[in-house]
Formats: sequence, C-alpha cells, structure tokens
Amino acid sequence: MSANKIRIADVLASKAQGQKLTMLTAYDYPMAKLVDEAGVDIVLVGDSLGMVVLGYETTTPVTMEDMLHHAKAARRGVQRALLVGDMPFLAVRGSVDESVKQAARFLQEAGCEAVKLEWRQGIEDTAKAIVDAGIPVMGHVGLTPQTAAGEGGFGMRGTDAASAARIIAQAVALQEVGCCAVVIECVPTEVAQDITQRLRIPTIGIGSGPSCDGQVLVLHDLLGLYERFTPRFVKRYARLAETIRHSIQTYVDEVHRGVFPGPEHTRTMSGEEWVRLREQLGADDVR
Ligand code: KIV
Repeated sequence: MSANKIRIADVLASKAQGQKLTMLTAYDYPMAKLVDEAGVDIVLVGDSLGMVVLGYETTTPVTMEDMLHHAKAARRGVQRALLVGDMPFLAVRGSVDESVKQAARFLQEAGCEAVKLEWRQGIEDTAKAIVDAGIPVMGHVGLTPQTAAGEGGFGMRGTDAASAARIIAQAVALQEVGCCAVVIECVPTEVAQDITQRLRIPTIGIGSGPSCDGQVLVLHDLLGLYERFTPRFVKRYARLAETIRHSIQTYVDEVHRGVFPGPEHTRTMSGEEWVRLREQLGADDVR
C-alpha cells in the first residue's frame, strides 16, 4: 500500500492488486498516532472500546457519545490511515433515519472517513441508507459482539453448513447494498475463503484464517494490554501490561526509598538567590 493518505478507493483497489490490508483498533491520540506511524492502513475506533478501555463486560453499554469522544482523539493522531468509526449497539437500534444521523456524526463531529456496522437481521436497509447518504460503510459478519450474548456467547460462527451459508449470504447482501469492505469475525478458514473469493470488495478477517484480503486485531490484545482474556486467534506481539505494572512498581519503590527524584530530575536555586531569600524571610524561618 502506498505511503500516501489511504482513501476508500485504495481500500477497494487493494483486492485487485493482491495487497493485504492491515487494520487495528485505536481509541486515543497517542495510540492512534503510533498505529498510523507504524504503517497500518485502517484505524478502527472499535466499540471494543467498551471492554478494553472503559472496563465493561461487553460492548453493549457503549454510547455514541463515548465513541465520538474517542474518535475525535484518534483523529488527532492519524494522518495516513483511513479512520473508521464503529456504530455502537445503541446507535443502530432506532429508525433507519436515526441510524443515518448517528453515522453522519462520525464524519461531521469526529472526522472519520467511514463507519462500521455489525450484521443483524434487516441491517442491509440501514447500511444502504447510510451508503446512499454518501457515507462509506464497512460491514461485519460472523461473530458480532453486540449481539453475541443472545447467540451463544463469544465463539466461532458458521461451523455447520447451514450457519455458514447464512453468513456467506449476509456478506453478499452487505456488498450488494454498497459496503466498501466486510469484516469477518471468527468463522472457519474455508468459509472466510469462500466469502473472500465471492466478493468484489475486500474482506478483513479476525479469527477467520489467512485467506481474507486483510487482517484486523484489537490493539490492546496485540500489545498484551488487556489481560481479562485473550481469544485463541490473537497473537500477542508484546506484554505491555507486565512492562507497565513493573515500571509503576519500580516508581512506587523508588519514591518510598527516596531514589526518585534524583539530582538529574531536580533544579536547585543559585546560591546567591538562596541567600537573598534567607535574608528576606529571616534566616530562622528557612532551614
Ligand atoms: O470493535 C472492534 O474492535 C471490532 C473489531 C474486533 C473488528 O469490531
């Protein structure tokens, strides 16, 4: 992928060019800046925010205001990557018109360049209306965390022929209403491969094997920052939680022992000014 700003046209062209897309989540300025500088193509302000940053058990409680607050911060860190805002559960439960309004807020208020929408029955109409309003949409099929609790929890989807066929049909439906890409979460490799071969638009896999046109991970999983659980499909490239914990314990210990701050972190007064101050205050007042 080029070093220039990534646009929707580049995402679409990547498939024909056989260029794998990289996507990672980011929810704030410093992380978004690092992800962007490292050359990731798409930064997703995912509603995984709810779990890995806000500490909820699921993504369901995340509000549109939460998403916008974090998307604005991520926007300030991203220069090259395409910035995508994830429509939270609560933003797509009203009328189609209301969902279009909420999607537009990601572009108008936070400077995102596309939105992502999880599959559920009837969502094609919402996706179409958002696309028709001129807002690029990325679909999301397979495991859809917003509705996972009612569908047997967080686990693989499409492991039997009937459910795999449904997921394939969902991905095709999202393409047909104009989505620019589809995230495929936690489906068997063969199913992801079938969808990838069937679609003209790129597929971006998570826990769905290597055949997808791109890959996405939650940044806090990749960095080892979220320790509550790690899905099997995650590769941890770092153990930052351990590094952070150790750094903070060392700080606490050094403050207790008087090692920090040391002379290199401290400024002293000139001797002349110190004498003047003592004279001003009366030598007895100052040690
Ligand atoms: O919210 C999120 O982070 C996501 C990714 C897992 C694709 O939807």
